[in-house]
Amino acid sequence: MEEIKIGIIGLGYVGLPLGRLFSLKYMVVGYDINPTRIAQLNKGIDLTNEINSEDLEYVLTKNPSDFRGLFCTSNINELKDCNYYIITVPTPIDHNKKPDLSKLYKATQLVSKLVNKGDYIIYESTVYPGVTEEECVPIIEKNTGLKLNVDFYVGYSPERINPGDKTHTVDKILKVTSGSSQKAALEIDNLYKSVITAGTYLASSIKVAEAAKVIENSQRDINIAFVNELSKIFNLLNIDTNEVLKTARTKWNFLDFRPGLVGGHCIGVDPYYLAQKAEELGHHPEIILAGRRINDSMSTYIGSEIIKLMIKNNILIKNSNVLMLGLSFKENCPDIRNTKVIDLINYLKEYEINVDVYDYLASNSETFKEYNINLLDEIPKKKYDAVVIAVAHNKFKDLDLSQFKKNNTVIYDIKNITTETNKSIKKL
Ligand SMILES: NC(=O)c1ccc[n+]([C@@H]2O[C@H](COP(=O)([O-])OP(=O)(O)OC[C@H]3O[C@@H](n4cnc5c(N)ncnc54)[C@H](O)[C@@H]3O)[C@@H](O)[C@H]2O)c1
Repeated sequence: MEEIKIGIIGLGYVGLPLGRLFSLKYMVVGYDINPTRIAQLNKGIDLTNEINSEDLEYVLTKNPSDFRGLFCTSNINELKDCNYYIITVPTPIDHNKKPDLSKLYKATQLVSKLVNKGDYIIYESTVYPGVTEEECVPIIEKNTGLKLNVDFYVGYSPERINPGDKTHTVDKILKVTSGSSQKAALEIDNLYKSVITAGTYLASSIKVAEAAKVIENSQRDINIAFVNELSKIFNLLNIDTNEVLKTARTKWNFLDFRPGLVGGHCIGVDPYYLAQKAEELGHHPEIILAGRRINDSMSTYIGSEIIKLMIKNNILIKNSNVLMLGLSFKENCPDIRNTKVIDLINYLKEYEINVDVYDYLASNSETFKEYNINLLDEIPKKKYDAVVIAVAHNKFKDLDLSQFKKNNTVIYDIKNITTETNKSIKKL
């Protein structure tokens, strides 16, 4: 039997943990177009914080012909004798909230230059149903002259990792697999089964696997939108939303969702992929898009609530000072892409409020490049007119907020992490 050699295309939040896991058993060539990322990884540094230096250094190898290990490179030629290619590149949305598959097509083109008879190409990037077989396979067939299920095979295995979550790591999350033929599906399933301790679920088709992934995140988005709407209603009623949810959760089948900002590049993005496909087929998806609208409105809503509270506390809004605790799109994760905290900051700045931002996980240079914001280097030693807990990073849970307080300071805890029950802390 031919030895398995896996090429991973795109070494980000998804590709690196997957590549590392496979490399404990197989030879893996990890390819990324970003040479800076490759240079860092080769020094044992993963700026996404998903893999620690020790675990990364343990698998790194300088020899792509080794029996097993992870060889990181931005040289496409190093991929050429792989027999499995796994594509884990970003699938974002554009400015009009339409799927942007350009990186996926580019990665497919790249693999087309390498694929040989008998090879497997597996997609992990989130897409709408049909992308693998109807959009990517034709690119490969056209560029190579090879035929699907005769000369090469494809599969789709969606990633379910949760960045920053050190409990549900890639090996511990049941992995959905699928393939272009029965033989391919079984081969692909066996490959994942050999490293995923949580096991696999072989879906009945590639389109089913693609659809399952996109609805997992769409369902979450809609459920969060529902509690966000509840939060707006209960604020009008002057009832504490968190108390209501806590009470309702005592019923066995009440679903546990919390209100908040929905950012990042999965939950706030994937529903648009499904919506686009639905629209193409003549169906206008009402619930999916309503959920998106509600969740996207939350930054403005929270901003206006903060300003109202400040006015009630006799704070002059113009030139007031607000401390924003957290910028990244989720807790314990440095990823600032598509964070909705930035919308909240921009909203406050429209009122000429000075906003200091402290996030000990986010990269200062990236934040400046992306948002033109200089992060504070350390916890500030000054008093503020308002303090906003925007992200539930672990360190913020024990932070003594009284150090920032004047007698009329507004504290707004979006993430409900403060334990104080006194009414001076406003929660979403
Ligand atoms: N981050 C998550 O939590 C998560 C979870 C499940 C699924 N996903 C999906 O997985 C996919 C990847 O997401 P991610 O968070 O890992 O993205 P990421 O931005 O962290 O990483 C992607 C990497 O791909 C590289 N890249 C881009 N184009 C390339 C190309 N043509 N060739 C080689 N490398 C290329 C980038 O330089 C980057 O390092 C997306 O479709 C995303 O929706 C992400």
